[in-house]
Amino acid sequence: MRAQIVAGNWKMNNDLSETESLITSLKGQTKTSNAEVMVAPTATNLFSAYNSLKGTGIEVVAQNMHFAANGAYTGEVSAAMLKSVGVQTVILGHSERREYFNETDEMLAKKVDAALENNMRVIFCFGEELADRKSENHENVVESQIKNALFHLEASAFNNIVLAYEPVWAIGTGETASPEQAQDMHAFIRKTLANQYGEEVADSVSILYGGSVKPNNAQEIFSKPDVDGGLIGGASLKAEDFFAIVNAF
Ligand code: G3H
Repeated sequence: MRAQIVAGNWKMNNDLSETESLITSLKGQTKTSNAEVMVAPTATNLFSAYNSLKGTGIEVVAQNMHFAANGAYTGEVSAAMLKSVGVQTVILGHSERREYFNETDEMLAKKVDAALENNMRVIFCFGEELADRKSENHENVVESQIKNALFHLEASAFNNIVLAYEPVWAIGTGETASPEQAQDMHAFIRKTLANQYGEEVADSVSILYGGSVKPNNAQEIFSKPDVDGGLIGGASLKAEDFFAIVNAF
């Protein structure tokens, strides 16, 4: 049975006091599903969020990290630094990192390696742009993003990898992929994994959907057999909405 996961990506929102009040609201929510719950505050608030959420079952994860262990990389944060403040999981490859910070597949492969070498879990994001979908090239784009960043890994690495399919055209736009589009792509992703690593590995990897998931559409998306949860942006900034999605399984 694959893990069901709902992760809230808070992106560059909420200063320290806003983060603390959102966490207080999260602690007031009740979980009725079996989903693993994660939240990703901005880097400055990871330590405080980790301490506030310790023992609640809500894991604090990072939105990004650098691949180097340390050194002259002004403004960057390493895997060991994240671990030193309690963070065990990192989101890598988000389309905003690819688009605004020029992260390439090659760079992401190095980041994935660094995270795994530090015994961290990776939520690896990828997804096509609108033009790719319109030209029916979306499967090729997704396949190459996965192959380029992950297919140098041994099969056992996938014990610590969660995949997150996020069509760029659905992020923050209010336009979600239909449940059928999400299912078709998730099945394709699983087939791509099976071709490289075999069915057992492919069946064990959780694949999350991200892109305008809201309380009113989460249940239908999560009901699809290859959708194992969600990476939630906007709707994760309100505790009630986020937990409505967590409880949509
Ligand atoms: O990381 C989360 C995704 O970018 C989805 O964001 O739910 O605001 O569309 P969204």
